[in-house]
Amino acid sequence: MKEVVVSGIRATGKLHLGNYLGAMRNFVALQGQYDCFFFIADYHSLTTERDAGQIRTHLLPIVMDYLAIGLDPEVCTIFAQSSVPEIAELALLLSMVQPAADLLSLPTYKEKVESQAKKGEVVTSGLLFYPVLMAADILIQKATVVPVGKDQLPHIYFTRDVARRFNEQFGQTFPLPNALEGKTIRVPGLDGTEKMGKSEGNTIDLTEPEDSIRKKIATAVTDPSRKRRQDPGNPFVCNIYALHELISSPDLVQWAQKGCQTASIGCLECKCGLSENIVQLLRPFQEKREQIAQLPGYAEEVLREGGKKARATAKQLVLEVREKMGLPNLL
Ligand code: TRP
Ligand code: SF4
Repeated sequence: MKEVVVSGIRATGKLHLGNYLGAMRNFVALQGQYDCFFFIADYHSLTTERDAGQIRTHLLPIVMDYLAIGLDPEVCTIFAQSSVPEIAELALLLSMVQPAADLLSLPTYKEKVESQAKKGEVVTSGLLFYPVLMAADILIQKATVVPVGKDQLPHIYFTRDVARRFNEQFGQTFPLPNALEGKTIRVPGLDGTEKMGKSEGNTIDLTEPEDSIRKKIATAVTDPSRKRRQDPGNPFVCNIYALHELISSPDLVQWAQKGCQTASIGCLECKCGLSENIVQLLRPFQEKREQIAQLPGYAEEVLREGGKKARATAKQLVLEVREKMGLPNLL
C-alpha cells in the first residue's frame, strides 16, 4: 500500500508563479510516489469569499492549471472538497474531541481575526472552525503526508492533535500526518514584499501573456538603494534576484549576482534575463493549458470522477468513525 498524500488549495483566484514554484511543481513529483488526493478547498474558500459567484468561477480554471502542469487524473485524484460532503460530517464529529481553546489560540486564527476586524467584517464561526475542517480533509483519507507551506504548519500540528485525541478515546483509527518539509520555498512578490500572493496583487499568473510578464517584471521593485545605473546593488535584498535563484540557470544567477554587486549590469538587463526565463518556463504550460481549455467538459469530468473516487473512501471512513463514536447505523 502506498502512503496517502492530501493537499488542498483555496479557490480564491488564478494560480500564479508563487503557487507553482511553492507547491504545485512538487505535486507532480509526488503523484508517482504516493496515493495522492489534490483538491480545491471550496468549503474553506467560504470563510473569506463573500461573492457567491466567485468560487464556482475559479474552480475549473484551477483544475485546468493542475492538468496543464502535469497532474494526471489517471494517477492522482483531483476533486472539489464540496463534492465530498462527508468531510463536513467528519469535521463535526472531530470537533467533539478537540478543546475549543485550541482553536481560539491558533496564530492563524488570530491573524485572520485581526485582518477581518480591520475591514469591518464579521468573524464567522466557520473561520474559527477552519482548522477542524482541514483536519477532516486530511484524516478522511488517512493521509500521512501533507505538502503545505510554512504558514500552514500550525494546522498540521492541530490535525495531529485531533487524530491523537480521537485515537485515545475511540481506538486506533488515524495515522498521524506529517507536513512534507524540505521544499517549502519562499516565492517573493513583485512589489518587494516577502510573499507572492493573490490578495497582495503582486503576482505573475500562470496564464499571464508574454508582454504582460515582461511589463510586470520591468516595473517590479528592486534593491531600493541602487538608485543609479553606476551604483552597485545588493542582490540579496532584491526580489528579482530571489526569483532568478528560483528559476534561472546557475550561470545566470552568478551573472546577476556579480553584475549587480559590481554595477557591471543594470537592473534592466538583469530583469530582461529573468523575464525571458519566466516566459520559457511558462510556455509549455500555457500551450498545454490552451489545449485543455479547448476540450469541452474535460476539466469538469475530471472533477466529477475525482469527486466520486474521493467520496467512496470518505464514506467508508465516516462509517467507521460513526460506529466507533457510538452513533446508530440507521442510514
Ligand atoms: N489551508 C490550506 C491553505 O490555505 C488549504 C487546505 C485546506 C489544505 N485543506 C487542506 C492543505 C488540507 C492541505 C491539506 O493553504
Ligand atoms: Fe536586483 Fe538585478 Fe537590479 Fe541587482 S541588478 S538590484 S539583483 S534587479
